Amino acid sequence: MQKKWKVLTSVALSGSLMMSSLLIDTSLVYGQEDENPPQLTGEKAINEVVNAMTLKEKAALLVGGNKEVLEEIDNEIIGNQATRVPGAAGQTQAIPRLGIPSIVLADGPMGVRINATRENDENTYYATKFPSPNVLASTWDTDLVYEVGEATSHELEAYGIDLLLAPGMNIQSYLLNGRNYEYFSEDPYLTGKMATELVNGVEDQGIGTTIKHFAAYNQRNDNNIDSIVSQRALREIYLKGFEMTVKEADPWAIMDSYNKINGTWATESEDLLTSILREDWGFNGFAMTDWEFGSRDIAKQMIAGTNLLMPGRTSQSEAIVDAVNDGELNEEILDRNVTEMLGIIVQTPTFLGEEPSNDPKLEENAKIARQAAADGMVLLQNEEETLPLQSDLKVSLFGTPQIETMTGGRGSALVRSPYQLGIPEGLQNAGFTLNQDLYDKYENYIDELRATDEYEQTPGNFFESTLPTLPEMDVEEEAALAAKESDVGIIVLSSEYGSYGNDRSLEDFYLSESKEDMIKNVSEAFRNEGKPVIAILNVEGPLEVESWSDQVDSILLSWQPGQELGNAVADVLTGKVNPSGKLAQTFPVDYEDTSYSETYPGVDQYIYEEDIYVGYRYNTTFDVKPAYEFGYGLSYTKFEYDNVRVNRNGSFKDKITVFATVENTGDVAGREAVQVYVHAPDGKMEKPELELKAFDKTKELRPGKKQNLKFDLDAKNLASFDEDLSAWVLEKGEYEVRVGASSEEIKGTASFTVKEDVIVEEVNDALAPQIEFDRLSKFNK
Ligand code: BGC
Repeated sequence: MQKKWKVLTSVALSGSLMMSSLLIDTSLVYGQEDENPPQLTGEKAINEVVNAMTLKEKAALLVGGNKEVLEEIDNEIIGNQATRVPGAAGQTQAIPRLGIPSIVLADGPMGVRINATRENDENTYYATKFPSPNVLASTWDTDLVYEVGEATSHELEAYGIDLLLAPGMNIQSYLLNGRNYEYFSEDPYLTGKMATELVNGVEDQGIGTTIKHFAAYNQRNDNNIDSIVSQRALREIYLKGFEMTVKEADPWAIMDSYNKINGTWATESEDLLTSILREDWGFNGFAMTDWEFGSRDIAKQMIAGTNLLMPGRTSQSEAIVDAVNDGELNEEILDRNVTEMLGIIVQTPTFLGEEPSNDPKLEENAKIARQAAADGMVLLQNEEETLPLQSDLKVSLFGTPQIETMTGGRGSALVRSPYQLGIPEGLQNAGFTLNQDLYDKYENYIDELRATDEYEQTPGNFFESTLPTLPEMDVEEEAALAAKESDVGIIVLSSEYGSYGNDRSLEDFYLSESKEDMIKNVSEAFRNEGKPVIAILNVEGPLEVESWSDQVDSILLSWQPGQELGNAVADVLTGKVNPSGKLAQTFPVDYEDTSYSETYPGVDQYIYEEDIYVGYRYNTTFDVKPAYEFGYGLSYTKFEYDNVRVNRNGSFKDKITVFATVENTGDVAGREAVQVYVHAPDGKMEKPELELKAFDKTKELRPGKKQNLKFDLDAKNLASFDEDLSAWVLEKGEYEVRVGASSEEIKGTASFTVKEDVIVEEVNDALAPQIEFDRLSKFNK
């Protein structure tokens, strides 16, 4: 192994040597030439190596080793600066003298983001475009999410990448956040569980992950916003998923967010990165900045516990050296930060001498991507059991997104996959016949519009869509004809062509007039012929549905689920896959139904006034009826719940176990995502109407088959955060367990009693808001 590493080092280091001439003058990289400097041979050598490092070497290691981008920074090159693996988001600086290799970091939320082609190289370097976290969360299937992690890690390994820059796990608290699709859910427990599985799936194979963006980064409108949040909402909502994942999966890295939290930049916050992350939670990895190009105070970042400044600039290394020389920064802080980084570097594939095969298992992984996409789709409406469809039908497809295939987000989610399979192709693969005339009309219509100045495709950049959103074609005549000639009308609705650099706008939530007209025309025409109409929501996030849903028979939320979109849609439409996805976020009736419609996104600062009442916690506590609630999703079969009860005669001690039996009482095999909510008693702290505390997905149950499920709820999971005590406290009183098919469809209840208040865990008093503000309370409705 030792020998192999030596050989590899020279390969790995040749890139960094090249880089060092671009980035840092060599005197900065290399220290005094000892005759026999210690070598980083493994964990045991770390202390010795750190002792041997010069100040400049430490400063070099703590700053990303990318091409200098000072002058040339523009939208297109961000994220494309790594030199070891072209198109990877970044890499660290090697210190050859001490045997420290450069490790490679790549995005992102939908799979491995690297360039598909390389200069002077005929080979291709495609990666699988998996479903994004919002789709994965909708599967409610932790094993499947683990499998996606595992498959992703094989591709990372094949391409010589050491660290994945994912999963993103911010809370989808605001409907218009342009990066919501990169995150799992509006619920912290579901987020924490899913992120844990993804991290374990990747890391069990020896590749690292980076959970991000830490923390309270819940809008894309202004990256520099000051997020003002109560300590309770932070601990219970915004930090909870991170805490679960750090404790349960031990991720190698974490990425600080761009924003401030309660007046302090996240990346400069000792409260966040040391008191909470390391002291309260026991994080063992290293923290890196987001790609912020040196805009923060370096000494503060280092002291706070940010180890690595990404993507890295020469001036940042120099500033670290200056800060130590000026007495602003104690070199011991650097030693600590370097030690933590080396602790991870010695676990990486690069350090262990693994060579990239550049041969990922794309075919195998496409199957996992297809299954995850289909399992994440949510059947929102199915009048008269219109679905599933026979696959020998003739189908008329409406909507421009059928042609300009929408498989997923931009920015860090821009995975170069070998193909992106659209809905028409997927339906044809499944045996459907397409109304070709209609398809051709759409193609012509799109070509014509794209040839105009207004809708012309732009060269594109990392952040913004290259395709201005098109108005829908007027299909009054086409629909009448199509309804006669085909068996079913399918309308594909998209909200936008994927953004990244901005929030979504209300136009992405409400349908445009031309889309409304399309729905009306198709609906009337097909209903006149007594034929069904199905809508497919090919969207990144919730869409307004209430005003038009009665015009269609079925609605399938397909999401933008990666390269297998078309096949996965066909799998669900035909019943090859019985839909089992359920919403991991609320679909409001109107934007005004959110508690923040008047205040979001704020200017310079944004106050999280809804406090703990995020998503369904708000809807259920304040009786605001959503279009589709959290946890909702239909199936082609039916499930009955029985035998919901708790153990120990309902008296709580350390934990309580909840039991439920689920039976498939319908006609086809299927799976059910079973949700366990708890309604906690108000005490000193008020509680939401209900909160998700556990969930499980049944195995595939054939008709008439049952499964017994069991859930353990421990004190920490049930506790609330008491700001006065800075502690998690389980308050006394009666707790009602509500087992349901969604947050509104509760199928059985049981209760247990906590006799005394229990201080479950005391933690650091950290991140207190710098101002007082009104917090939403159910007692002043
Ligand atoms: C994003 C990160 C991403 C990084 C590297 C940043 O702009 O916020 O999520 O990992 O770029 O591409």
